[in-house]
Formats: sequence, C-alpha cells, structure tokens
Amino acid sequence: MARPDHLLLIFFSVLLALLPETTQLQPSQVWTLIKIQQLLNDPPMLSHWRHSTDFCGGAGGFMGPTGSAAVLCYGDTVTQLHIAGAPGSPPLPRNFSVGALVTTLSRLPDLKVLTLSSVGLWGPLPGKLGRLAALEIVNVSGNYLYGDIPRGMSRLAGLQTLVLDDNILGGELPAWIGTLPSLTVLSLRNNTFRGAVPESIGSMPSLRSLVLASNNLSGNLPDMSRLTNLQAIDVSGNSLGPAFPKLGRKVVTVVLSRNRFGGGLPEALGSFYLLERLDVSWNRFVGPFTPALLSLPSIRYLSIAGNRFTGTLSDKALCGDNLRFVDLSLNLLMGSVPACLRSPDRKPDTVVLVSTNCLDSSDGSQRPSPFCQNQALAVGIMPGKERRNAASKAGFVAGIVMATLVAVSVVGFIVFFTVRKAATKGSKARTLATSEEESSSTGYPSKLLADARYISQTVKLGALGIPSYRSFSLVELEAATNNFENSYLLGQDSLGEMYRGRLGNGTPVTIRTLKIKRSQTTQSLNRHIDTISRLRHQNLVSALGHCFEYDLDDSTVTQLYIVFEYVQNGNLRSRISQGTEGCKLTWSQRISAAIGVAKGIQFLHGGIIPGLVGNDLRITNILLDQNHVAKIGNYNIPILAEAMKSEKGGAGNKFQTDSPMYSDKTDIFDFGVILLEVVSGKTITSMYEVDILKELLAWAIADEDRVRRRSFADPAVSKGCSDESLRTVMEICQRCLAKEAAQRPSVEDVLWNLQFAAQVQDDWEVEAWSSGGGSPVSSSSRVTRPSRLNLSR
Ligand SMILES: *[C@@H]1O[C@H](CO)[C@@H](O)[C@H](O)[C@H]1NC(C)=O
Ligand SMILES: *[C@@H]1O[C@H](CO)[C@@H](O)[C@H](O)[C@H]1NC(C)=O
Ligand SMILES: *[C@@H]1O[C@H](CO)[C@@H](O)[C@H](O)[C@H]1NC(C)=O
Ligand SMILES: *[C@@H]1O[C@H](CO)[C@@H](O)[C@H](O)[C@H]1NC(C)=O
Repeated sequence: MARPDHLLLIFFSVLLALLPETTQLQPSQVWTLIKIQQLLNDPPMLSHWRHSTDFCGGAGGFMGPTGSAAVLCYGDTVTQLHIAGAPGSPPLPRNFSVGALVTTLSRLPDLKVLTLSSVGLWGPLPGKLGRLAALEIVNVSGNYLYGDIPRGMSRLAGLQTLVLDDNILGGELPAWIGTLPSLTVLSLRNNTFRGAVPESIGSMPSLRSLVLASNNLSGNLPDMSRLTNLQAIDVSGNSLGPAFPKLGRKVVTVVLSRNRFGGGLPEALGSFYLLERLDVSWNRFVGPFTPALLSLPSIRYLSIAGNRFTGTLSDKALCGDNLRFVDLSLNLLMGSVPACLRSPDRKPDTVVLVSTNCLDSSDGSQRPSPFCQNQALAVGIMPGKERRNAASKAGFVAGIVMATLVAVSVVGFIVFFTVRKAATKGSKARTLATSEEESSSTGYPSKLLADARYISQTVKLGALGIPSYRSFSLVELEAATNNFENSYLLGQDSLGEMYRGRLGNGTPVTIRTLKIKRSQTTQSLNRHIDTISRLRHQNLVSALGHCFEYDLDDSTVTQLYIVFEYVQNGNLRSRISQGTEGCKLTWSQRISAAIGVAKGIQFLHGGIIPGLVGNDLRITNILLDQNHVAKIGNYNIPILAEAMKSEKGGAGNKFQTDSPMYSDKTDIFDFGVILLEVVSGKTITSMYEVDILKELLAWAIADEDRVRRRSFADPAVSKGCSDESLRTVMEICQRCLAKEAAQRPSVEDVLWNLQFAAQVQDDWEVEAWSSGGGSPVSSSSRVTRPSRLNLSR
C-alpha cells in the first residue's frame, strides 16, 4: 500500500519541478475544470478548486487518503488531468451524466493524459471520447462504466495507454482496437468482456503490455509472435485456450492462470531468456514438465499448479539465480524435488510448493500411492499410435488411467431425458447379470490391462465404416468442441451435458458428459466401459470412445465423456409423419429403415452379453444417416440407467409394462408402435392413439380387397406400394402390438417378415416399371413364392 503512494509523491514532485513558470490558465478552461468539479459532485480531493485557483501553478493538486488530484498545463492550456478517488468509491448520484462529463472534457482540447479512477463514474462509455483528439493516456479504472467499448474511440490515433480496469464493461472486444497505431498498454482487467480476442491484437507493433485478466473471454489467443515489443501478458481468469499462445521470445511476464489452456508447454519457452514470471496454474495442461524452466536465466516466479503435468523430477535439476517462487503442487510429477529447491541449498527467501504430486516424500503431502501407481501403469500400456505429440500422449495418460466408462445415448437424448423410463423389468434382469460379473472382478490393475487388451481387439474389428473404438484425451475433446463452448451444447440434464463436436480429422461426433458419484467403484466403472466399448453396430449410434477426468486431489473419477458418432440426417419421424412432401421416405425406404431398427434391436438383445433390453425405443430416437441407414440413437446403457434411477427413483414405460420374463418383448412392442407410425404416417404420441390405430389396422388387414389397407396407409406411399408388401408389414406390426408379451414375435421373426416385404416390394416395382415401359412380363415369368401365411407363422 505504501509503495504506490510513495511513487505517486515522487511522480508529483517531479511533475511540479518540471512545471513552466506560472502562466494563467485560459479562463474558459478554468470554467471547464470547475464544471468538472460540479459534475463529479464536488469530491473531497477537488474541494479546494475555485475560479481563482492557480491551476497551472500547481494549486489544483491534492493528495490525501480520500484521493488525489493534479492538473498540469503546457503554457495556458491543460494537458493532464488526474483525479483519483479512494478505491471502492460509490457511484455518483442519479443526476450524474457521463455524457455531460465527456462533453465538458472535450473543452480541454490539448488534454493528453486523463485519469478519472475510482470517482464513481457510471453509465456507458461515451463514443464522444473520440473527440478528445490529443489523448495519449486514459485511465478510467475502478468506476461503474458499462456497455461496450464505443466505436468512437477508434478515432484516438494518438492513444498509447488505455486502462479500463475494474468496470462493468462488456461485449466483444472490437477488432479496431488492434488498429490503434500507437497503443502500447491495453488493460481491461476485471470487466465482463466475452467472446474471442480479435486477431488484430496480433498486429499491434507497439503493444508492450496486454492485460485481459478476469473477463469472460474464450477461444485461442491470436498469434502474437510478431509483437516484438510485448513484455507482459496477463489473461488470467478467462476461459481461453486450448492452444498455448504464440509469443515472441522477449516476453517478461506471462500469466495464463485459470483458463482452459491445454496440451503441453511449448518447447520454445526454454529460450525465453527474459522471462521472469510464468504462471500457467489452474489450466488443463498435460504432458511432461520441463525442469529447464526452473533454470531460465531471468525466472523469478514459476507456477504450474493445478494441471496434469507428468514426468520425473531429478534431484540434480538446476535453478535460476533469481528464482524466488515455485509452485508445482497438484500435478502428477514423480521423482524427487530438486536439491536446489530444498534447504539447505535453496535461497533463504524462496517459496517452494510441491504438495499433491507423486514425488518421493514421506511427509504425507503427496497423492496416495495406488493412484500414483496407476499413473505408471497407464504409461506402460500406452499404445504407440497415441504418441504423435506430447499433448495427445499425456492426454492419453489422463484418458486411460483407471479406465472407466459410462453410458448413454445420442442425439435423441434430449427426448430421452424428458421421459426416460427406468425400465423396471429390464433393469432387474441387468442387475442380476452384472452382479455376477462384479463378484468375479479382480483388483483394478489387472482389470485395467484387460481393458487395454480389449480395446486393442476392438481396434482390429473396425469393419463398420466407423472409426475404431479408443480412448480420447480431454485435450482432443476440448479442441473438438471449442472448449465445450455453449454453442456446441445440444442439451443437458441433471446428469451432464451433450455436445456436438468435430474431431481433428473432421469426424463429427456427439459427446456425452456424465458426472460420476464418488461411490462408484473402479470395478463397476471398468465393467461399464467394457460394455460401452462394445456398443458398435451399423444400426446403432455407436460409441467411438471415452475419456475421463478425475479429481486431482484424491484421484477419483469425477466426469466421464462418451464419444458417439454423429448421425446427421434427422430422425425417422421427420421423414415420415412430420416430413414435408418430397422429403418423405418411399415405401421401400421405410421397410429398409424398419429392417435397420430390427437389426439394431437384435444386436442389443443378443449381440452383447449381457443383452440390453428395455431400450425405450421411440421413432424420434431412430436417426438416419446420409444413406438413410437407420440407427437407434438411444438405448439402454446400464450406467446411465443406474444414474437416472438414483436421481429419479424410476419411472414407468410410456406404452407398456410387461413382466420381467418378457423384458425383450417390451422392445418388440415399442418397435410395433414405430412400425405403426411408419405405415400410417400418423404422429403417435399416446397409448390411446396406439389403441385406436390398432383397431383400424385389424380392420384394414381383414379386408378382402385392398381398399381399406390403402386408406390406412400413409397417402404419401399408398400408391407406390404393393398390397402384398403392405399387408405383410401390417400383419407383423399387429403381432408386435399384441397385449400379451408372450404373443409378440421374436426379433428374428420380425426381421424375416420385413425382409420378405422388402423383396415383394422390389419385385413389384420391377414389374410395374417393366409394364410401364411397354414390355409386358408374362405372369408365369414371375418367381413363385410360398404363400404369405406359411411364411409369417
Ligand atoms: C445532483 O444533485 C445534487 C443534490 O442531490 C446536487 O447537489 C448537485 O448539484 C446535482 N448535480 C448536478 C450535476 O446536477
Ligand atoms: C490507473 O489509475 C489508478 C489510480 O491513479 C492507478 O492506481 C493505476 O495504477 C492506474 N493504472 C494503470 C495501468 O496505470
Ligand atoms: C472488480 O471490479 C469491481 C468494480 O467494478 C470491484 O468491486 C472488485 O473488487 C474488482 N475485483 C477484483 C478481483 O479486483
Ligand atoms: C461470465 O459469463 C457467465 C455466463 O455466461 C456469467 O454467469 C458470469 O457472471 C460471467 N462472468 C463475469 C465475470 O461477468
């Protein structure tokens, strides 16, 4: 506290000494100063201002606990005006007008330096400030200015220093700010600026100090490697990242703490010979920590706390002569604390913090040893293809440790969360199956290895036209979602969020986040990840991989990310009952979509063990890819069902409740409802509608002629479909909707009938085309088929 005052005193005495021989200030400017005094509500540091005051003779100055004031003139005109109140001064009264103040200030045409800090200014920063053409230094920190930085200020071509700290200014940083030709100091600390830092900042030849700390800025910083004069950058307390900013080698101060920077530290940092202060704490950095940073020639302050830096420190690492503060705590460092950081070698006034790592230490300040062993294990099983760069390498370490996973569903998940059924019968069956697994599970290290083996097996199986299942690093997912930016958010619920994203290679994905309860055991997480890694089928929105985040304090998993393929072409309903003309699926396309869904169900029931039943199938959760291949976008993933159940205590199925014995038949019923909509083209939202349509369906099927079937079917397809095909689908639909679960067909039966319907339709289309084309086909040339009745029973 004493030091700034002291400096200020020297500053003022020097200024006073430099003052030219007393010259009377122009009367109009005296009036202007008195008016300013009034507009500022006559603050204590200006209480001595009178019309008779000799402002240019130094009599306008004041210093005291309530603030300070100074007026400096050149000849008979004011060139500098400093008015600073006590920090935290309340806003000026309601009748204050910042517009009137700036208008008044513009009557001081030669004003070069303006400080109006902590004087209670409030209101939007007026664009009229641009009229003060001579301004070089502006400091209006500690006020209550709001709104954005007005365009009018872009006219201040001579502006060298702009300090707007501690206000409530917001909006995006205007790009023109980077075109102010003389700007050397830009300080916008503690406001509410949001959005990206404009590229233009990277081309400000004079910029020496850039302070954007404590705002809401996001995204990567522009390339600043060309800013040869840049000495200090402080962007702490934003949401910036993930890329480490590109900086020139001559920076002195780099403060990036509390952001979303990730990946590894650039090697180039090792050549920053002027660097005194490097603070990258509380970010998402991963990868090896470079001990060489400790011995940079100028380094004085180094903090990497609260990241996921790995690597082994050596006793013999060197420290720079100026090093006075080192914080390595809360990382994943191994080895021993360098001797130069321990007494007796360390300099007496040096602060060294190293707790909560995996360092050799018996004082209990480090992480628990099972956790640290897992780190080592994770490094051991890292597959070679993950080693492309330091970032993905370390990210992989983070990704695989205690490999775990969670479940979910995909794009349709918003619907999913609104009416998730906890599938009472299905979940019972699952619990049975999984508890057996659990009891046979061994400790996690071997299980981890098993997972790693499993993953490498599935890699070989990548024949689905989708990327192999793998672990993702958090860095990758951050890059894919622009740091989980809001515009990438598809939806959220009490368990987590769903984001869309795009991987580095261009693959679009959806990413489900799920908070993990502390009570979740490693074994059960491993079991879940195992299940999820198998959820891959042509007719499922398949899992592509997972990633997790854990608590750096106690190593528990806190969050899981499941990456799914992104299916781009809308849901089935949007192409059936709610489609516009022209975008509606044809009859053949509808049958093949239904076949796809049935195959997906077949896979869920029997393609993985234990099978997943009670999948709450809905037409809105059936997604179509660009080839109209249907994919079940929401299915029963055990960990999610578990989490949901503990949240909500379970709910009922929307349409049907069956005994546990027939839990697979619930899916068949739900499939029947989907088929009903596919055939009728009517949006179905309640059990009541299902009942009505089922009556109509029975009545249509029974018709000797095809008239009722035609009128039941969606008019968009009824003309283009063979009656036999239509009737086959209608009949299987009717059977799926049987009240008694035991009466419903098996999924194989369903598939067989649908495939038959597709075949009949195909033949019919060929024949219709040929006869339409004028080459009649004799009925005897048609392939004869067994009767429909024989087939479907
Ligand atoms: C604002 O109101 C106060 C009284 O509340 C008065 O003393 C002051 O002169 C007014 N200021 C202006 C600029 O009107
Ligand atoms: C702005 O003015 C205040 C009050 O005089 C001072 O404490 C602060 O250091 C100034 N800011 C800058 C960046 O010069
Ligand atoms: C931020 O600015 C506000 C005034 O706008 C002030 O009250 C607050 O103390 C400042 N916060 C920090 C951390 O400086
Ligand atoms: C940043 O933005 C979030 C929401 O977008 C808001 O809640 C928060 O208050 C903002 N922070 C600041 C310092 O304005």
